[in-house]
Amino acid sequence: MEKKERGSFKGSIGFVLAAAGSAVGLGNIWRFPYLAARDGGGLFLIIYIVLAVTFGFTLLTTEVAIGRKTKQSPLTAYKQLSKKSGWLGIFASVIPFLIVPYYCAIGGWVMKYFVAFLTGHGADAAEDGYFGSFITGKTEPGIFLFLFLLICAVIIFKGVSGGIEKSSKILMPILLVLVVGIAVYSLTIKSTNDAGQTVSGIDGLKVYLIPNFEGVGVKEFFYTVMDALGQLFYSLSVAMGIMIAYGSYVPREANLVKSINQIEFFDTAVAFLAGVMIIPAVFVFMGPEGMSTGPSLMFVSLPKVFLAMGPVGNVVGAIFFAMVLFAAVTSGMSLLEAVVSSLVDGFGLTRTKATIIESVLALIVGLIVCFGYNFLYFEYTLPNGSVGQVLDILDYVSNNILMPFLSIATCILIGWILKPKTVIDEVTRNGEKFGRKGLYIAMVKFIAPLCLIFLLMISLGVI
Ligand code: PFF
Repeated sequence: MEKKERGSFKGSIGFVLAAAGSAVGLGNIWRFPYLAARDGGGLFLIIYIVLAVTFGFTLLTTEVAIGRKTKQSPLTAYKQLSKKSGWLGIFASVIPFLIVPYYCAIGGWVMKYFVAFLTGHGADAAEDGYFGSFITGKTEPGIFLFLFLLICAVIIFKGVSGGIEKSSKILMPILLVLVVGIAVYSLTIKSTNDAGQTVSGIDGLKVYLIPNFEGVGVKEFFYTVMDALGQLFYSLSVAMGIMIAYGSYVPREANLVKSINQIEFFDTAVAFLAGVMIIPAVFVFMGPEGMSTGPSLMFVSLPKVFLAMGPVGNVVGAIFFAMVLFAAVTSGMSLLEAVVSSLVDGFGLTRTKATIIESVLALIVGLIVCFGYNFLYFEYTLPNGSVGQVLDILDYVSNNILMPFLSIATCILIGWILKPKTVIDEVTRNGEKFGRKGLYIAMVKFIAPLCLIFLLMISLGVI
């Protein structure tokens, strides 16, 4: 059989923007701000940054290096590294397969809000019950899921440099400009509350940045560290096959150390700026209570904040949801790519066939996710005590169980069986300086697997 030529990024910038595009997603914009608000603002930020440059860097480096070294998909890369570890590839490809449907369902929700604000219906979106009645609808969530998935599939269909690289080079700079613009705007807003006090965005910024140690004992500190760790995992797109797939398209001459630093910086900067965008605005219009709304922050609280801004709110809301949509598309397509590349490398399918098969499967499972809020509604109590539907179950199984498990196994494989040299040699193959080499070895062998075991035990409700 003729060997098909493997896709490749044309340059390091394309790779960095694509990988940052994957990392920067709903996790940064929707999840990070509410965790930061809940977990003592600045304290969470400091812990998060420390973990990003130690733990996050270790996992990211490991996966990108595995990808580039093997030039294989998540499904087939582990087998190439070591025959006995081939089964890990199944995890690395099943995880994105499970995530794609619900990520695209949420991407569809973002699209719906974008359309609502764009067409001047922002005020409707601020009404109580709007979000609930939308997601429990029988047809609309499915239609938006389909549209979102279609956008991601078309990009993947066009290939690595013509689809992923090209779209990332357009979307990511726009995203950055919008994030910075909204963050600056958020700091300038002011409002007078019922008690006649004027509250400004800067006051909200202080709540976000100044560490709050009130009531923080050892136990609370430990849980904040674990929250930050879980978030980092989610945010960097590690343990879901993506960075192996993207790493496999990086040219051998590219400087991986530099690229990884840039990806990390980009992801952390956008998460930080998302907090600057959201927390001051929510604080000004809803006070400290507005920030404890948790996951509903983006779809329920923010539309109310945009409404409170007056006529300009519709425009700010449309720009905001356009930005979230870009972030979600670049992440959604990377998840799709992790599965598509596995089908191509593992089953010898063409990219076209693999994209069609995976998109159809994702649509079917995605519709089941959407129907989880109406026809298929049930309440299932997860091991951590929260009650969830299909979406929450898929999210829980992938993020809380399979991803920590895969990462622990990958750390053991690289740290103990193949030895860290495997990764170090790959990232320094062109004579690059690997500044955090000692740290990398300590992390991959001891610290990262140990922290991950704690995370897994918390997720399973054991501790
Ligand atoms: N890292 C991306 C984000 O922060 O949204 C993508 C992603 C995260 C996808 C978590 C899936 C997931 F479960």
